[in-house]
Amino acid sequence: MEKHTNNILITQFTFKRRLLPRICISVFILLYIFPSLYKEFYSYSSSSKFLSLQTKKIFEHLQPFYYPVSCQKLFESDSNEFKYVQTLLSTSKSQKNISDNQYNITKEQCDIYRSERFDQSFHHEDILINRQFPLAFNILLHDNVQQFERLLRLIYRPQNFYCVHVDSSALWSVFESVKSIVQCFDNIYLVSKREEVTYATFSRLQADINCMNDSIKYSSWKYLLNIASSELPLKTNSELVKILSIYQGHNDIEGVREKRNMERTDYVWQTLNKTGDRHGFYLKNTGIKKQPPSDNLLIFKGSAYGAFSRAFVEFVLTNEVAKRLLEWSRDTYSPDEHYWATLNYNPHLNTPGGYKAKTDPAIWTGRYANWGESRCYGQIIRGVCVFGSLDLPSLLNRHELIANKFYLHTDPIAYQCLEELIFNRSKLDLPLNDATFYRRMPFLLPS
Ligand SMILES: *[C@@H]1O[C@H](CO)[C@@H](O)[C@H](O)[C@H]1NC(C)=O
Ligand SMILES: *[C@@H]1O[C@H](CO)[C@@H](O)[C@H](O)[C@H]1NC(C)=O
Ligand SMILES: *[C@@H]1O[C@H](CO)[C@@H](O)[C@H](O)[C@H]1NC(C)=O
Ligand SMILES: *[C@@H]1O[C@H](CO)[C@@H](O)[C@H](O)[C@H]1NC(C)=O
Ligand SMILES: *[C@@H]1O[C@H](CO)[C@@H](O)[C@H](O)[C@H]1NC(C)=O
Repeated sequence: MEKHTNNILITQFTFKRRLLPRICISVFILLYIFPSLYKEFYSYSSSSKFLSLQTKKIFEHLQPFYYPVSCQKLFESDSNEFKYVQTLLSTSKSQKNISDNQYNITKEQCDIYRSERFDQSFHHEDILINRQFPLAFNILLHDNVQQFERLLRLIYRPQNFYCVHVDSSALWSVFESVKSIVQCFDNIYLVSKREEVTYATFSRLQADINCMNDSIKYSSWKYLLNIASSELPLKTNSELVKILSIYQGHNDIEGVREKRNMERTDYVWQTLNKTGDRHGFYLKNTGIKKQPPSDNLLIFKGSAYGAFSRAFVEFVLTNEVAKRLLEWSRDTYSPDEHYWATLNYNPHLNTPGGYKAKTDPAIWTGRYANWGESRCYGQIIRGVCVFGSLDLPSLLNRHELIANKFYLHTDPIAYQCLEELIFNRSKLDLPLNDATFYRRMPFLLPS
């Protein structure tokens, strides 16, 4: 009996002696080796599906809320998916608003920030053909840092240049947050002179010129595009490069001589302080007739936005006629909408990249904005359509480079889906769709 008990004790003892180290080793593997292998594996996959398996990101809070919709189906006009979008938007409105002051990245955190939010290969090194054709962007913004950052993530490439103009009337938190993002990139810079941009006043044009003056210092870029943070590209960087290469230094600037609102440039407009609004100005027609511009210039009406060749930007900054026109424009209504066009469509100026063909221009690709030409499924704000999810199918095959405009809080799903489409296409180098359209632009025709 005693022997038996002894035997049991011995067996238990050897059992413990053999098993304990094994348990220890297993626990070690489970706790340390396996997760690190795991992490290694998943760090190659940036798909949001795996995010929960990854170790928590430092800038997780800057990850936009993802609406679980099929953007593919929305672009393909699937009515059931649109119904689903309606319910999502009505139930989860502003699910996650990333407030401006959450973009408080310190200089030391820049590497982590970039590896988490700018994690695509095109963010690190773009393909050769794009590296040989750098672009410059003016980005204008007033508020909503989240929307600025998402736009930046979509258009950022290491070979490009980005001048960021934060309105001088923007909240301090907006400026500080943009500053902390910008400090993480060598090729993104804040404009050296900020303007208080007010609708239809000279300040809007001045803001772009200030940025042009800062960007011209960088000698490699070929074209400059101005973009507001409320816009989204309709083309990827590769597509922009292909289209602008076809344009061969010609400017892509909207311009019409007829049908323009003569009041805007025929009279002196005065900028007045808006009473009771600390940051507002408004324009008033004084009724005083304005002298026509010098240098035999005909005024053309166009858009504040365009694709400007490098030589054109140099011309704007240095040419005496251009400078005189700028001064003359100070007291006009919305000079941003006639300055570029007038310089581009007066052939006797020999403006670099300017229009010399004899046919009526009538097409340009700088911007797509819906000023009421077609139905707006989003929200019409100040006469222009702020796109909604139902507008997505019509955006898919447009020829324009950039679409105006989007508000994250108006329709976050429209934003998410166009963002996803352009992001997906950015990972590929596909042949340019409908290249013949761009090759037949009127400004490419012989004069
Ligand atoms: C989100 O931000 C927008 C604009 O910045 C604002 O209009 C909206 O009220 C905000 N929503 C929430 C829930 O804070
Ligand atoms: C940034 O702001 C958040 C709160 O919004 C705060 O928790 C965090 O500590 C701040 N980070 C830095 C580096 O200041
Ligand atoms: C507008 O108001 C600001 C602040 O009150 C003042 O400094 C500025 O001179 C005013 N400008 C005009 C044009 O009245
Ligand atoms: C451009 O910047 C320089 C300083 O770098 C300044 O002297 C010049 O007046 C600016 N030109 C324009 C057109 O703003
Ligand atoms: C983008 O790519 C993802 C992953 O391949 C795919 O699931 C999604 O449908 C694509 N979205 C669009 C709009 O092409």
